[in-house]
Amino acid sequence: MTKPTLTTTAGNPISDNQNSITAGPRGPVLMQDYQLIEKLAHQNRERIPERVVHAKGWGAFGTLTITGDITRYTKAKVFSQVGKTTDLLLRFSTVAGELGAADAERDVRGFALKFYTEEGNWDLVGNNTPVFFVRDPYKFPDFIHTQKRHPKTNLRSPTAMWDFWSLSPESLHQVTILFSDRGLPTDVRHMNGYGSHTYSLINAAGERFWVKFHFKTLQGHKHWTNGEATQVVGRTRESTQEDLFSSIETGNFPKWKMQVQVMPEADAEKTSYNPFDLTKVWPHSEYPPIDVGILELNRNPENYFNEIEQAAFSPSNIVPGISFSPDKMLQARIFSYADAHRYRLGTHYEHLPVNAARCPVHHYHKDGSMRFFPQMTGNTDAYYEPNSVSGAAVENPAYAEPPLAISGDAERYNHRIGNDDYSQPRALFELFDADQRARLFSNLAEAMWGIPEAIAERQLGHFDKVHPEYGAGVRAALEAMTREKAAETAQQQKMPQGAAAAE
Ligand code: NDP
Ligand code: HEM
Repeated sequence: MTKPTLTTTAGNPISDNQNSITAGPRGPVLMQDYQLIEKLAHQNRERIPERVVHAKGWGAFGTLTITGDITRYTKAKVFSQVGKTTDLLLRFSTVAGELGAADAERDVRGFALKFYTEEGNWDLVGNNTPVFFVRDPYKFPDFIHTQKRHPKTNLRSPTAMWDFWSLSPESLHQVTILFSDRGLPTDVRHMNGYGSHTYSLINAAGERFWVKFHFKTLQGHKHWTNGEATQVVGRTRESTQEDLFSSIETGNFPKWKMQVQVMPEADAEKTSYNPFDLTKVWPHSEYPPIDVGILELNRNPENYFNEIEQAAFSPSNIVPGISFSPDKMLQARIFSYADAHRYRLGTHYEHLPVNAARCPVHHYHKDGSMRFFPQMTGNTDAYYEPNSVSGAAVENPAYAEPPLAISGDAERYNHRIGNDDYSQPRALFELFDADQRARLFSNLAEAMWGIPEAIAERQLGHFDKVHPEYGAGVRAALEAMTREKAAETAQQQKMPQGAAAAE
């Protein structure tokens, strides 16, 4: 088979891709070697900023197939018929690690979905846990600073983490999940996904329901202990990428059961907890999960950078029949993601193939970097709106949502007053058997060991309030660690010089 001729990006044929143009065989290179300069310059532009959080990720394409009818709650076309299939992209991630971080680290996993629906993209940007560390977006940047590197040491700081968490008891629920078995899944196939926030569903009659989305792994749950994960990282830093890529490549397609919990709009006034508080779940006994569909991943990306690194997920991408809720955290995220994408990817990031909607798109945005697509206003004469140009795109009031009653005085309300941060972590703690509790205690002790005593005591006080066994268990694990460390030090002091290093 004849091979095509290599060209410049402008299409000019290239005669030699092995040797630079030099003045004599030993001489310096000439400025006129445009292709040499072009290759070096392109390489300098191969990186874009990594995501400020969730930088390390793994993704694949797949489908959602509807198995249960929820049209009484939503008119969203994605749910319109049992048997209907919608294409999707799912990107998983860790939160704190940078782009090159090891995969097998104890951290929350991102579970970001983009459904390419006939009414535009629906992005459900969730995690592998149903709750989060904070409930007010005002605290998100502070929280993330505690997870990233210390400005002076450039190391991660357990002191900063526990200082923040112990001063933010709303984090207890998520902290308990993070340090339990599910906080370190072996890979992303063996974990659940959650939309986490409360969203809304709107049906054809204009009725609103509150909703939580869940994705239950059909592969079963699998986790590593801290010790196992250390060995895994020693063997490979890319354990999740290897697992996901190879399982899809060999036709072993991972699946999740999609479920929803649905709450009638008026119930939000009646629940004992704030149903829009991201640190809380809705108990299944009150709002039982309803089966909706099967999510399957069945195609690896052809080009990781193109389709995964440049993927842009945003909770602001909703479709008719699915919408937001008063959750403060969700409200902030509606702003934050598109803002991040404009900075990370560029003005017209939604037109990159992986982000582009697979339905007609009409808007009046004009110039800016990456303006490679034609006018999308319906008629090229129209570049502003309103206009008198025939065929130009206009709004459609049929898509208006029913009004949402909101009232109250503008104030910085203290969300830590009158909020029960202990009952739901207790319900979770009570689900754990003795072995699970023992691993929780030792994982926590490992993470807390060496932090200032006042901070440790403040955090232990919260564990006591969740369950007396919880506080006592972590205390005992910390004491055991202190004894172990003291024994290790004593052992090292007894050894002849150089023996410890040689071991
Ligand atoms: P249920 O007993 O009805 O539900 C318990 C849920 O907890 C199930 O979804 C189960 O997920 C999950 N679960 C079971 N074991 C563990 C574990 N070791 N670590 C983390 N999650 C686990 O009780 P409630 O609905 O009243 O919830 C009780 C507690 O369970 C909550 O406080 C919350 O911490 C946790 N939970 C609740 C969820 C909810 O939406 N209600 C969702 C996830 C957790 P699975 O089916 O995958 O085993
Ligand atoms: C990524 C902000 C809370 C899940 C990001 C990014 C930002 C951000 C700026 C990087 C986006 C990019 O560059 O593409 C915030 C803010 C939050 C918040 C301001 C709170 C106020 C949450 C919560 C969840 C979550 C509660 C889950 C329930 C994710 C996921 C990603 C992400 C999964 C990675 C998306 C991807 O794969 O590209 N977040 N976040 N975040 N966030 Fe959040």
